[in-house]
Amino acid sequence: MSALIDTLTLRFDQAIVAAFGDEHAGTPPVLRRSNRADFQADVALGLGRKLGRPPREIAEAIVAKVDLAGLVDKIEIAGPGFVNLSLTGEWLAREVRAAAADARLGVASETPETVVIDYSSPNVAKEMHVGHIRSTLIGDALARVLEHVGHRVIRQNHLGDWGTPFGMLIEHVLDTSGGDASSLSIRDLDVFYREARAKFDGDPAFAERSRRRVVLLQSGDAKTLELWRLLVDLSTSYFGEIYARLGVGLKSGDVCSESFYNPMLSKVTSDLRDAGLLEDSDGAECVFAEGFTSKEGKPLPLIVRKTDGGFGYAATDLAGVRHRTATLGATRILYVVGAPQQQHLAMVFAVAAKAGWLLPPARATHVAFGSILGPDKKMFKTREGGTVKLADLLDEATTRALAIIVEKDPPHLDDAARREVARMIGIGALKYVDLSSDRVKDYVFDWNRMLAFDGNTAPYLQFAHARTRSILRKAGGAVDAADVAIGTPEERALALALLGFGDTVSGVAESLQPHRLCTYLFDLATVTTAFLENCPVLKADDAATRASRLALCDVASKVLARGLGLLGIEAPEAM
Ligand code: ARG
Repeated sequence: MSALIDTLTLRFDQAIVAAFGDEHAGTPPVLRRSNRADFQADVALGLGRKLGRPPREIAEAIVAKVDLAGLVDKIEIAGPGFVNLSLTGEWLAREVRAAAADARLGVASETPETVVIDYSSPNVAKEMHVGHIRSTLIGDALARVLEHVGHRVIRQNHLGDWGTPFGMLIEHVLDTSGGDASSLSIRDLDVFYREARAKFDGDPAFAERSRRRVVLLQSGDAKTLELWRLLVDLSTSYFGEIYARLGVGLKSGDVCSESFYNPMLSKVTSDLRDAGLLEDSDGAECVFAEGFTSKEGKPLPLIVRKTDGGFGYAATDLAGVRHRTATLGATRILYVVGAPQQQHLAMVFAVAAKAGWLLPPARATHVAFGSILGPDKKMFKTREGGTVKLADLLDEATTRALAIIVEKDPPHLDDAARREVARMIGIGALKYVDLSSDRVKDYVFDWNRMLAFDGNTAPYLQFAHARTRSILRKAGGAVDAADVAIGTPEERALALALLGFGDTVSGVAESLQPHRLCTYLFDLATVTTAFLENCPVLKADDAATRASRLALCDVASKVLARGLGLLGIEAPEAM
């Protein structure tokens, strides 16, 4: 589609020069999609003002000169001087055939880069909160999109598995498992964490033991490390189960947690000191980066080493940037982390740049996102006010989707198939609602809306896909994209939508906004549905039309499935 726009722009420019002379070259027309024609070009209004002549007259002069042979078969002047263009059926058909023959369905490949995506990154012995849920879904979709356009993607799950809370957690393991830690199973991570916290706050002896345990952990005491490992393993296997249920591409090999960076922190600190960047601020070792000030206008420190001598979250992130550029070879690093960490990350990037660990072409981006709100427009919480568990959301999504299917009672699906489809719809809906809203904004969580079969929802897109699949199954036999021909308005609209896939995916790889792909797919599903409702496929008037429409069904089904796939959403064959 962008190639088409370039061609149209060039041809109009040539026409303007032919009609009004060289000095008006480079007046690019504004081209937009229009529902009256395929495109509307705004070429005459600006020029009319410049020349002091009526825009309609200008438009007529340009239309008389413009050469759009083979590309456009209808050209009309509309309104104050807009030029409406309808593409030729041949051109549309040829482009659809080319996209169908392309393994990436028309998505251009980019110069490959090594992209690190830091996402999900929950904390050990804690439930994933809403922020981790969003990070997991957005990060996974971006990883898929960036891979699809040809980048080498390295997923990094920056698990929070180090620091002072582990003292109390380990002591609590010892207290509750009665010495035999191997029998421990943490069913409810959050409860376990809260119990430890409560004891820490209420029992001075426990708190003292916990503090000593942190020291033992940091000094590498074998028994302590064994217990710590146990906690980490329990958590990672719990997170792993959730990733598997979600169909998220994070594997245990992608875990690169805070503790991984621990051995690098003293070198990070001494290198910062050698570079003259480290300053003492109230006993803590800090770096001040230009442009970061507190509300009162005082320079803000990035604390590398705290007053107690321990390294903080920032030190780990600095080591992370260095590891990602120097060792993993990343030139692009994406941090899919909630908006509240904006300042922290901006400071980490600034300090890493000063230290020479993040130099062009390497760059880091904070892919921030807003919150999920409950129906009351406040932070999404359980009815009891606790953290919403992702595992519970997955259960409920699937149960609700199954209830909807049972009510629809599709005769062609047996019980097992219904359950499988319910899983795809439920989880798809949960992912789609998150990805389809503008990433940086908050959104309100609403089961009924996200599971509706109408509107911009996963089930609507999945249903459009399932309909195309059902027709293709009924037709049997081979489908050949070479048969595509474009005639009716619905066929034109479908062809135009199909041709937008490439630009859309490239745009998401650039803007890191998955909702643009959602908007595109919603539009594609809408025109696909209109096509199926207005253009008989299996009962088409003649064999050529039937073959062409089947081929269109096939391309539509592939683009829908691929597009959903890039969002991490499955597309059932039947619904
Ligand atoms: N574990 C952190 C949290 O729960 C998120 C980590 C994000 N990644 C990073 N490199 N800081 O807030």
